[in-house]
Amino acid sequence: MIGLFDRLARLLLHALDPEDAHGLAIRMLRIAPVPKAGHDDRRLAMRVFGLNFPNPVGMAAGFDKNAEVPDALLRLGFGFVEVGTITPLPQAGNPRPRLFRLDADEGVINRLGFNSQGADAVLRRLAARAHSGGVVGINVGANKDALDRVADYVHLIERFAAVASYVTVNISSPNTPGLRDLQAAAVLDELMARVIDARDRAARSAGPTPVLLKIAPDLALSDLDDVVGIARARRVDGMIVGNTTVSRPQRLRDVATATEAGGLSGRPLFPLATRMLAETYVRVEGVFPLIGAGGIDSGAAALAKIRAGASLIQLYSALVFRGLGLVAAIKAALLAALQCDGQTSLADYVGADAASITAEPWPA
Ligand SMILES: Cc1cc2nc3c(=O)[nH]c(=O)nc-3n(C[C@H](O)[C@H](O)[C@H](O)COP(=O)(O)O)c2cc1C
Repeated sequence: MIGLFDRLARLLLHALDPEDAHGLAIRMLRIAPVPKAGHDDRRLAMRVFGLNFPNPVGMAAGFDKNAEVPDALLRLGFGFVEVGTITPLPQAGNPRPRLFRLDADEGVINRLGFNSQGADAVLRRLAARAHSGGVVGINVGANKDALDRVADYVHLIERFAAVASYVTVNISSPNTPGLRDLQAAAVLDELMARVIDARDRAARSAGPTPVLLKIAPDLALSDLDDVVGIARARRVDGMIVGNTTVSRPQRLRDVATATEAGGLSGRPLFPLATRMLAETYVRVEGVFPLIGAGGIDSGAAALAKIRAGASLIQLYSALVFRGLGLVAAIKAALLAALQCDGQTSLADYVGADAASITAEPWPA
């Protein structure tokens, strides 16, 4: 049933402008009776950040920016959903066109620029489903013209702690000018101090809400040293590695579209994002868990991400090319790997290849 739903949807969506297709996909998930995926095998379950995940495959931030369809996505078989990025106030984002498919590369370039309905609208939706179960995290960002960007993050953590399974601090979108500067050591330390203080204050009334930091795959390794050092010192609950890249790998085939400004995601991002994940894993030394994102488009890619250091994985771009059936295919492949290796839990794979990946030549 999911297969038929998926094939029809993909045919239709590929005929449209990418942003219109995305809008239609959200509308379909809102109104169509979404078929329910079967129960997950227990061996796929993970306990991470103090939360129970039925499987490790998450919908990455950016697909459901305004929390319109988290429950439909959970029904379809995702182990968790990250909604957002949301900003405190509504904002339109950059002018269209701002979303591009690189069909020959199975990549996507976006320069959406945090188009968000704002905190009030999203808070209403999350509050309405707060008792529905499932892991639904929220990814937060600053308004483009905010005078105090750190205050925007603090404000959103305070407001959303009670209705979100976790909160991701997104300082890695390339499409809000200056946002990535928050990754610089002195600024990041102040941001994380205030964010973690907000988390701890909110915990007194709302219970614990893990706070994760999402970084860019474009950081220099010396900057990654600083970022991980601060994340450890400030006691964040985890990191997501990572966001889209502003780099353009040499082997891209759709060279015309590749010149569009914005963040590249999908298959061409996999080597860089996986290398940065492994580099992060060896620096974190098991102090907190990592979510791996960037170019996952198969069961093999998902397992490689876990072996590079991810306790959980997220994907978005490959769904455009492979459809929602990819989620079930990844879960089946992970189970097959467990069976073949005689393992009982995916936790045994986490980081198994991290050290050897960091010794490889840097991905071109
Ligand atoms: C169209 C689009 C919009 C995105 N919007 C966001 C966003 O709002 N916040 C965020 O943290 N990441 C955003 N991302 C990045 C994804 O969450 C993910 O980190 C990245 O795309 C790598 O995963 P993928 O290769 O599986 O797509 C977006 C990605 C795409 C393709």
